Amino acid sequence: MTADIRILDQRTPEERDRPFLPGMGKAWLMPLYDAFSRVAGVRALHQRAVEAADVEPGQAVVDVGCGTGNLSLAILAAQPDARITGLDPDGHSLRRAARKARRRGVALTLVQGYANRIPAEDASLDHIVSSLALHHVDDDGRVAFAHDALRALRPGGTVTILDFGGSTSHAEDAHHQHGHGPAHVLRHLPQLLRSRVAHSPPVARNLDDGIVALLAEAGFDDAREVDHVDHRFGRVTIVQATRT
Ligand SMILES: C[S@@+](CC[C@H](N)C(=O)[O-])C[C@H]1O[C@@H](n2cnc3c(N)ncnc32)[C@H](O)[C@@H]1O
Repeated sequence: MTADIRILDQRTPEERDRPFLPGMGKAWLMPLYDAFSRVAGVRALHQRAVEAADVEPGQAVVDVGCGTGNLSLAILAAQPDARITGLDPDGHSLRRAARKARRRGVALTLVQGYANRIPAEDASLDHIVSSLALHHVDDDGRVAFAHDALRALRPGGTVTILDFGGSTSHAEDAHHQHGHGPAHVLRHLPQLLRSRVAHSPPVARNLDDGIVALLAEAGFDDAREVDHVDHRFGRVTIVQATRT
């Protein structure tokens, strides 16, 4: 069966020229994204987000920063009757997501746009999900995203965010590893990578309770970490909040 997958461009004229940080940091690396994601074990992270979100049949979901669609497709594998819209500014990744959804014969709506404008009517969504994308969004965009999530969710609807974040202690351990030479670097490569990820300015915004605070400041009452994974690239947190 081939599904009809459309990509709707909902960018404003100004947004068409707005730069964004692509999934691999550089646009020319994007053809490698899915292979890298597989090797890096991101599928297992998505699975944890799918379990945390717990989407029910017929529910409406927007996947913010969906990239090549892997989280959306994981939700559809667990809950084929979910109605999912993937949102991302990257047309290349969205075309890849569309090809994958067509191959699997699943229905997926794809919207080209930014996290600050969630493509949904007020109070219409059961879930907003997002994986490894919030650290790609700048300060103003993050705040706008959190407020727009509150607008778009129905009362009782939940936002589930998976991203690098939470306690900085592991990153600090790595930061304080002293030594030189190739043997030292190789031995401590995972910690060094973790440290680089944790100390990069975009990820630093998420550290400690950065995501929880973002959602609480937007007006979510119960924002909290519901799960975390000690991934080799850094601590990954799952933060969830419900619209009251
Ligand atoms: C590391 S990728 C994660 C993709 C996917 N969610 C996954 O788990 O594989 C980060 C994504 O955030 C998207 N992104 C960057 N800036 C954004 C913005 N302002 N709003 C929404 N998405 C954005 C990128 O285009 C990219 O697809």
